[in-house]
Amino acid sequence: MNKTILITGASSGIGEYVAYEAATKGANLVLCARREDKLLDVKYRCEQLGAGNVYAIPVDLADPDSMDDLINHLDEKTIQIDSLINNAGFGHSEPFVTTDFNLVINMFQVNVLGLMYLTQQIALTMLDQGSGQIINVASLAGKTSTPNYATYGATKGAVISFSNALRMELKPHNIQVTTVNFGPVDTPFFDNIERNRREASVNGPFALTVTKAAETVIKTIGTSKREVNRPLLLAAGAKFYALVPEVGDYILMNFFRD
Ligand SMILES: NC(=O)c1ccc[n+]([C@@H]2O[C@H](COP(=O)([O-])OP(=O)(O)OC[C@H]3O[C@@H](n4cnc5c(N)ncnc54)[C@H](OP(=O)(O)O)[C@@H]3O)[C@@H](O)[C@H]2O)c1
Repeated sequence: MNKTILITGASSGIGEYVAYEAATKGANLVLCARREDKLLDVKYRCEQLGAGNVYAIPVDLADPDSMDDLINHLDEKTIQIDSLINNAGFGHSEPFVTTDFNLVINMFQVNVLGLMYLTQQIALTMLDQGSGQIINVASLAGKTSTPNYATYGATKGAVISFSNALRMELKPHNIQVTTVNFGPVDTPFFDNIERNRREASVNGPFALTVTKAAETVIKTIGTSKREVNRPLLLAAGAKFYALVPEVGDYILMNFFRD
């Protein structure tokens, strides 16, 4: 690849496996997340797999100062980002009315505002470069609302909407914006989610392996795809939901009744 890819949420799950997939293709990598020890393990494995230069930089997407430190670090080391993969995020499942509002705020800070802030900073450097790609990992939960995921779905819907506008703004500048929306993927993401739902999601017929999800993200690099939705059956479900939401609500209310 000989390109430099910045991956947020590279310490675990989809981001970690995207890093390994990119490493086998010889990419240079900037790995970001909060847990430095995990990032260093991922960096080591990426180097073993054949990556070029690999940087592990701790960043908290809920903290703009931490993102400023990252941008300054990239600037000082003259690291030019060809692809930004905004993947970091977390979920939670609970009826909205009983959800601690601090958690709601934190989820928007990480899944939406942190993503937007980092995107703005990196997009400015891409404008100077005259090229780039921004890949936002949202979720099919941002297209199909489900009970107990009001906050998570709202953050992912916001990412999809943000990406749709940004794509049009940046296209004339040779910067591609791609959204990748997954259904359930078997990762530690579900450690935060209630146990029953984890089992139904990751052992269900629609679950993707983390390797498959990572391959899907990597395959979008260098393409002009506006959006990728996987698995296809759930993507078709999201289209159905948009066409006949009353029927969709009925099915989902029954499916998500624990
Ligand atoms: N798994 C699924 O079923 C699924 C489905 C659709 C979409 N997604 C989306 O895919 C993305 C990756 O999720 P995953 O399944 O790979 O989950 P995961 O294994 O839990 O990974 C989440 C990553 O986000 C990072 N992160 C969380 N909070 C952060 C913060 N404040 N600052 C910086 N990094 C932070 C974590 O690193 P640290 O803890 O080290 O900071 C970790 O690397 C998320 O955006 C998720 O919403 C997941």
